[in-house]
Amino acid sequence: MRTQVVIIGGGPSGLLLSQLLYTKGIDSIVLERQTRDHVLGRIRAGVLEQGMMALMAEAGVDARMKAKGIAHHGTLISYDDTLFRIDFQKHTGTSVMVYGQTEVTQDLYAAREAHGGQIEFEVAGVTIHDADRDAPYVTYTVGGQERRIDCDFVAGCDGFHGVSRNSIPQRSRREFEKVYPFGWLGVLSETPPVNDEIIYANSERGFALCSMRNDQLSRYYIQCSMADKPQDWSDDAFWQELKRRIPQDQAAQLVTGPSIEKSIAPLRSFVTEPMRWGRLFLCGDAAHIVPPTGAKGLNTAASDVHYLFTGLCQHYLDGTDEGLERYSEKALARVWKAERFSWWFSSLMHRYPDQSAFDLRMQRAELEFLRSSDAAQKALAENYVGLPY
Ligand code: APR
Ligand code: PHB
Repeated sequence: MRTQVVIIGGGPSGLLLSQLLYTKGIDSIVLERQTRDHVLGRIRAGVLEQGMMALMAEAGVDARMKAKGIAHHGTLISYDDTLFRIDFQKHTGTSVMVYGQTEVTQDLYAAREAHGGQIEFEVAGVTIHDADRDAPYVTYTVGGQERRIDCDFVAGCDGFHGVSRNSIPQRSRREFEKVYPFGWLGVLSETPPVNDEIIYANSERGFALCSMRNDQLSRYYIQCSMADKPQDWSDDAFWQELKRRIPQDQAAQLVTGPSIEKSIAPLRSFVTEPMRWGRLFLCGDAAHIVPPTGAKGLNTAASDVHYLFTGLCQHYLDGTDEGLERYSEKALARVWKAERFSWWFSSLMHRYPDQSAFDLRMQRAELEFLRSSDAAQKALAENYVGLPY
């Protein structure tokens, strides 16, 4: 088999890239380790920046997002019983869209299938060959059969646990990592959200987040120990703890109900440099991870896809390789800013096991500064709605 771009991973990065390339007549094949249902069963954040929305439109997959997504013009931040609002519209003239990553992925699969896109599910043993030469190829097995695809380029969109990053020799890359000493216990419930806007809560019992998917589906999180197991937390214990971490007036109006999903996610900051090795380009979680505070994961993957798509279009349609040559540099410049924001916002909102009395006062002073300073609110808003590509 032969194609122009082999895309490893059928998550949002790989699917979006494949669909965008299709709109320009550039061929790709997507190789996905899991089944379609497995990919669509994963619950991830659901806040889209303007840049991601624009890419969905460019890919021709924005109809359902426009109909079902909810525009958010601000967000709420609380510490103890103090609640204040960051006005995105006022500070940036724009907003974000609440639309689940599961929905994004569903729309992308539907579009790839409608246009005859080639996606191989349940592939095993994906191996990238000769990425540092002129004629790379990828081998894998599917249904017990060995396959080979020759290509011009390989896009490594296979997430943090994929093969692409590790196909780059150790000596040719450098990794930067911070692991946070806690996790997020998340619950999805068929209840109306406690507030129209997302609440980020700093409390002495730890961080809490009140988010939503739609007006009958809520997503809540509480900071927990990584030693906890989801089954240790009954629904009742979860709701009790959440109520203790958000302002009393919000807790009083919280509607609780059975959880339909409950899971614990670790928090990590991670970047690998460079994001390109010869004809292999890393995209999304394969190259970087952010802690979920601020919902930058999917949006940072989207900016990589934008730079790679632009570079591939220049290569195939304009005959210049400048975009591909500069892909890693451009993508990383934006990645590091998203890393900084996610790290800063996480540091501001969580309780750390080793926090001293001084550290706690610093956190409090920073929250009070943010509540009272227009400049600080503008800086948060600018990052939250997404820095320019
Ligand atoms: N071969 C083929 N596919 C693989 C392999 C492999 N060896 N390893 C992983 N995959 C697949 C995974 O099954 C997954 O479907 O690659 C896909 C990667 O998807 P994501 O992990 O969702 O990463 P990405 O598409 O970059 O999306 C970034 O998703 O993970 C969230 O927080 C992240 O929101 C961000 C966004
Ligand atoms: C979510 O809705 O899952 C969500 C929202 C905002 C975040 C993280 C997660 O910062």
